[in-house]
Parts: sequence; C-alpha cells; structure tokens
Amino acid sequence: MPDATSKPAFNRKNPLLAKRLTSRLLTEGCDAKDTWHLEISLCGSALDFTPGDSLAVLPQNDPALVDEIISTLGFSGEEPVPTPAKEEALLRKALTENYVITTPDKKLLKAITEKAGSTDWQDLMESDRKAELSDYLWGREVIDLLHAHPDVQFQPEEFVGLLKKLNVRLYSVASSLASRPDEVHLTVAVVEYESFGRQRQGVCSSWLAERIDVDTPIPCFITPGKGFRLPQPDEDTPIIMCGPGTGIAPFRAFMQERQATGALGNAWLFFGEIHENTCHFYKEEWETYLDDGTLNKLTTAWSRDQEEKIYIQHKMLEHGAEFWSWIEKGAIFYVCGDAQRMAPDVDKALHSIIEEHGSKSGEEAAAYVKEMLSEKRYRRDVY
Ligand SMILES: Cc1cc2nc3c(=O)[nH]c(=O)nc-3n(C[C@H](O)[C@H](O)[C@H](O)COP(=O)(O)OP(=O)(O)OC[C@H]3O[C@@H](n4cnc5c(N)ncnc54)[C@H](O)[C@@H]3O)c2cc1C
Ligand SMILES: NC(=O)c1ccc[n+]([C@@H]2O[C@H](COP(=O)([O-])OP(=O)(O)OC[C@H]3O[C@@H](n4cnc5c(N)ncnc54)[C@H](OP(=O)(O)O)[C@@H]3O)[C@@H](O)[C@H]2O)c1
Repeated sequence: MPDATSKPAFNRKNPLLAKRLTSRLLTEGCDAKDTWHLEISLCGSALDFTPGDSLAVLPQNDPALVDEIISTLGFSGEEPVPTPAKEEALLRKALTENYVITTPDKKLLKAITEKAGSTDWQDLMESDRKAELSDYLWGREVIDLLHAHPDVQFQPEEFVGLLKKLNVRLYSVASSLASRPDEVHLTVAVVEYESFGRQRQGVCSSWLAERIDVDTPIPCFITPGKGFRLPQPDEDTPIIMCGPGTGIAPFRAFMQERQATGALGNAWLFFGEIHENTCHFYKEEWETYLDDGTLNKLTTAWSRDQEEKIYIQHKMLEHGAEFWSWIEKGAIFYVCGDAQRMAPDVDKALHSIIEEHGSKSGEEAAAYVKEMLSEKRYRRDVY
C-alpha cells in the first residue's frame, strides 16, 4: 500500500491514464443487453481504492457521430476551437474529447431557433415549461436538432460554445486491491436504445465496451463511496448484499476483500438478472466463495425465465423470516444498482419484511428502517 504522502493525487484535472488489460462479455448469448467485465491495469500508478469506491472515467464520443456533426455543419474538423478548459484544440478532437455531442443544451436549441427564425421551439423555452422542454429533448440528440434545421450555419467556435462540457461517468469498483493488486475491475452495462428512428448508445459505456483497446489511455480517478464500506474483518457483523444487474460490482469487490482478509461475519448475496443461462455474472466465483465460506448464501432471481417477472425483492419476501433474523442479528443491508425502479421496490420489501416478521405496524416498520439508516445498517449506492 502506498503511504499517504507518496500517493499521487489523481483527479478530474490530473487523471491517471490507465490501460485496459482484458474485457469479457458477461451476457454471452443474451440478445437483450450487453454487460461487460473489464480489467484495467493500475501498474506503477499507486492509485489506491477501497471496495465501495467508484472509478470516475472520462470517455470519448463516438467518432462516427463526431464526423456526422462535422459534415452536417459543413466543417472540416481541422478548425481551431477553444476547449471548456480554455485551451485550443482542433474541432474534431474537441468534439471527441471535450464536449457533450449527445444530450443538447437549451442554449443550442435557442441559437438554432433564432438563426432559423423559427417558432417551432419558442414556447418550450419559456421558463415555466421546463418539464415540456425536458420531455421534448428526451431521446433527442444534438444531431437531431441540426437535422431539424439543416440551413442553419455556425462558426466553429460559436458552435462549441453552445455545447456542454463532457463529464466523467462513475463505475463501482468490482475488485479489491487485496486480491488483485495493481488492477481495477469494472462491470459495465452498455446503454443502448432507439429513439426517433435512430439507434443510440451511451457515451462512456459504449466507449469502454466497444471502442477502446489495450493501447487506449483511459483517463480515470477514484471517487470514494460515501459510507458504502464493509465492516472491519474482525467484526462478526453479518452482511446482506442486494445487487441486481451491474449492482453486483461492489459486492464482487466485497467478496474478494472478505476472502483476502478472512472476514468473520456471515454474508448473503441477492443477485438478479434477466436469464439464468446467459446472465449469471461471475457464477463460478460465487461458487468458490460459497465453498470456502466467504459467502454463506446466494439467492438469485431471473426476471425473464418465466411468464411473470421474478425480481430480487420477491426472493427477499420469500426468505422473509430468515432475512428478518439476519437483520435482528445486526446485519448491514447493502443495495446497489438501479435507482428508479429496483431501489424503491427493494425498500418496500424491506418494510414488508419488518412488518410481517418483526410484528410491527407500518409506522413502526418505517421507524425501524429510519433507525437502520441512521445506524448505517442500511446503505445504498444507487444510480
Ligand atoms: C455511484 C455510481 C456507480 C455506478 N456504477 C456503475 C456500474 O458499476 N456499472 C454501470 O454500468 N454503470 C454504473 N453507473 C452508471 C454510469 O455512471 C453511467 O451513468 C452509465 O454507464 C451510462 O453512461 P453512458 O455515458 O454510457 O450513457 P450517457 O451517454 O450518459 O447516456 C445515458 C442517457 O441516455 C439517455 N437515455 C437512456 N436510455 C434512454 C431511452 N430509452 N430513451 C431515451 N433516452 C435514453 C438518458 O438521457 C440517459 O441519462 C454508476 C453510476 C453512479 C452514480
Ligand atoms: N437502456 C439501456 O440500454 C440500459 C443499459 C444499461 C443500463 N441501463 C440502466 O442502468 C441501470 C442499471 O442497469 P443494469 O444493466 O445494471 O440492470 P437493470 O436494468 O437494473 O436489470 C437488472 C435486473 O433487475 C431487474 N429489474 C427491473 N426492474 C426491477 C425492479 N423494479 N426491482 C427489481 N429488479 C428489477 C431486471 O429485470 P427486467 O429488465 O426483466 O425487468 C433485471 O433482471 C438501470 O437504471 C437501467 O435502466 C439502461
């Protein structure tokens, strides 16, 4: 471990330029999604992290989309433009590395409206119509706005001034330095969807999964996970981990850490994905941990292997009595993954278990959960 004084301060302005070692599709044979396991070398960097932290990655935009924007605007790509950091770069490089060329800023909408002399989007820009504007822009990208008014012309510098700065994306670390020194592993689901007749991809997930190779520098740094931490290995506090989909990432790091440190408390993992035969991420690793006692119980939910959806919260409820007995023994309950749908439903299941198996009213169960939160026995890392 590097000591605190020798640790280089990698951050947004001074990221580590790491290189990928390997990548492996975790959803081989599944048509519905592409989720990748990535291993990235930290060799020689002394970059330090703890399971529960995230790796912040500064991605690059899709070069095909960059080219389409450049040609739509009649540029060559070689025009000098300022970057958000007020440096100078050629337009193609700036659009690839520095600016958001997917999600449009309201400034761009406004500028196109003014230049086109069009009233199409004028109402949407009223200050009291934020929700309508956001609905209109949902699924639309910069290129769609340009195609809507093909006659509008910009100067290169003017155009980049209407774009937002490209920002980092966070990925939960899926490995432990105690087990895999000099490496950081990630579990990355490629964001893909169709809107307005075009196939779209998330910037960073598609870059990491599909457009980098072993020679591509990956600008990155660690952001600490606020309180998403394992108990000390010599404590016998049980842990329950709930990580469907890419939410599994921090728990793989937890398992590696627990095995390396010989942690004492019991551990129960809930994992959910769409199909058991194509999406059982890290299956062999869980089997090893179950064999050597690093993991005591694995409960899985496969959402699309039968007619009706089965999710992890259904499995929590099915095992409610045992779940409650772990909670009563002081278990820490960790939840990681989708914030929109999964986390609220898992929260409801937790309340139901406390009500049913703890013989409490709705208000008492809510107070119990509040106490778990304040005692940091219920920790969430959801996105
Ligand atoms: C603490 C933390 C940890 C995380 N850990 C992980 C992890 O371990 N693994 C992981 O894969 N991700 C993780 N994420 C999410 C990750 O940071 C990125 O948000 C994710 O990879 C998408 O980024 P992107 O650049 O690929 O997509 P973006 O380019 O950011 O695109 C996403 C955007 O696309 C649009 N969009 C998406 N779907 C649709 C649709 N159907 N219709 C219209 N528009 C749509 C939305 O505007 C959405 O915000 C984590 C996030 C946080 C905050
Ligand atoms: N649009 C994209 O292409 C895309 C790609 C990657 C990630 N994402 C977003 O990124 C986040 C994480 O995605 P992910 O790939 O890690 O997995 P995910 O989408 O969260 O899916 C993992 C598992 O959770 C299930 N699930 C869906 N709703 C649930 C609920 N209410 N409660 C419990 N489980 C539920 C899914 O089932 P079902 O899917 O069968 O319902 C699936 O079996 C999500 O917000 C997701 O929307 C989107």
